[in-house]
Amino acid sequence: MIQHDVVIIGAGLAGMRCALEACKELDVAVLTKVYPSRSHSGAAQGGIAASLGNSEPDSWEEHMYDTIKGGDFLNDQDAVEEYVKAAPRVIYELEHMGCIFSRTPDGKIAQRSFGGHSKPRACFSADRTGHAILHALHEQLMKNEQSVKIYNEWYMHSLIVDGDRCNGVVVSNIQTGEVEVIQAKAVVFATGGYGRVYKITSNAFASTADGVMAAFEMGLPLEDPEFVQFHPSGLYRQGILFSEAARGEGAYLLNGKGERFMETYAPSRMELAPRDIVARAEQSEIDAGRGVNGEACINLDLRHLGKERIMERLPQIRQLGIDFLGIDCITDCLPIQPTAHYSMGGIPTDMFGHVISDEKGTRVNGFFAAGECACVSVHGGNRLGTNSLLEAVVFGERAGKSVLEYAVGIDYANVNEGQEKARVLKKFEDVYQRDGSESYNDIRDEMKEIMMSHCGVFRDEEKLKVCIKTLNGLQERFKKGKVTDKGKLFNTEIYEILELGNMLGMAVIIAKAALERKESRGGHFRTDFPKRDDKNFLHHSMVFDTPDGMVIKTKPVVITKHQPAERTY
Ligand code: FUM
Repeated sequence: MIQHDVVIIGAGLAGMRCALEACKELDVAVLTKVYPSRSHSGAAQGGIAASLGNSEPDSWEEHMYDTIKGGDFLNDQDAVEEYVKAAPRVIYELEHMGCIFSRTPDGKIAQRSFGGHSKPRACFSADRTGHAILHALHEQLMKNEQSVKIYNEWYMHSLIVDGDRCNGVVVSNIQTGEVEVIQAKAVVFATGGYGRVYKITSNAFASTADGVMAAFEMGLPLEDPEFVQFHPSGLYRQGILFSEAARGEGAYLLNGKGERFMETYAPSRMELAPRDIVARAEQSEIDAGRGVNGEACINLDLRHLGKERIMERLPQIRQLGIDFLGIDCITDCLPIQPTAHYSMGGIPTDMFGHVISDEKGTRVNGFFAAGECACVSVHGGNRLGTNSLLEAVVFGERAGKSVLEYAVGIDYANVNEGQEKARVLKKFEDVYQRDGSESYNDIRDEMKEIMMSHCGVFRDEEKLKVCIKTLNGLQERFKKGKVTDKGKLFNTEIYEILELGNMLGMAVIIAKAALERKESRGGHFRTDFPKRDDKNFLHHSMVFDTPDGMVIKTKPVVITKHQPAERTY
């Protein structure tokens, strides 16, 4: 049995920041199914928010209000306050760790505008901000290699929980296919989101709900899963991100008639309204037949920014346009559409990173979560751009501190290695033995298709019921799939099947919670209930798996400084 004081699953920003904290006094393992430098945090392009006030006077109070208004008042305000207050310190720390931020002419950290932020607050490294921070943190981890061991290309199957205490994880080495038990005093999930359940998504292939489903399968609830963010600028038909930084730098959105249609939907903020509003505006234009050339896309127009600014501030999106479409945004518009981008919901935690097991806030001893897989909830019903890199770093650090408080000086609990291994091996064997007639690729495609068309930007009761029924049918077919590779070495087919099982489970949870929330708020829009309903729905959803099926309870929203108000832009 492998033993580490702490095992962190996920090597994106939250996981690595947590490791840097925990390794000050503990022996830490970081387990990732890819490599740290390929984590999805690296895909975040436009910036990380902090009220440095380098372009215009700014304050944490304004950052807090923008975040809460952007989240449609579903955010827990005590957590938001801690988080925005920490932001400036976090930026300077990242800089001292070696993250290279773009500068103003007088040498300060440059800041650009982003949707829903009332001040230029996004600190950035051109349009590769996530990438720059990811590499800085990875370098720091390598510096601490005597206390941090990284398991690259390992897959986490299951938590080991005994009563109210978490004692480790069951994992496998993707290269050899061997299942192993890691005994730990503390387990941290930093496993990211689940955007891959949608056909059009900006998410990396790894964002397949493994962590959230492992928690759910251990009887823990998921919070607010119905809130999935669609980013307004995904590459048409492919979903690859074209950073909101383009609009932050001044790009326009044009419909098929060449109109800047945001005038109709958010006249005071135009292209820089929050993402939920812009994504809905785009989809409305497309649905009304005003897409570009009759297609389901909108034009992103950067031409007036000029070559010099594009090359300095947005080189990556220029290159993406050239590589994937053969379009140079210096001279032509880029076709875009809303793309599933971020999961506001996830494993419920308190603001110190402790996972909680119920709506009363009861902690699970030794289990922590941070980053996109967690729901703190600082983003409420809709996250503002650049607040996610901040979340990952702030709550990664906080989870690391909590791990130190919890795990230093305690003993390992007993773990029955044979029993834990056998549990996972049985699941593994079940999959290996499948020799049915169903194609897993077809099932995956059909899941993505129905989630996009029936549980996407716009939802209603009828569509959601069809979606759930279709997903249940896919879950049945999943049991009768055909496995073609029965080998053990680097059997990526098996892992893709396990991921698909997790995604199907997650898709049902999203759709059921969306059906239950009969109002529109943030990223969750019901055409049959188009208004926000604070009287009946100003609460978090808590979805539990019970022997009688899925049960959805509620948890109050923490409101400290800002009473819910009408949200206009
Ligand atoms: O558009 C972007 O650059 C994405 C940033 C974010 O999601 O925070």
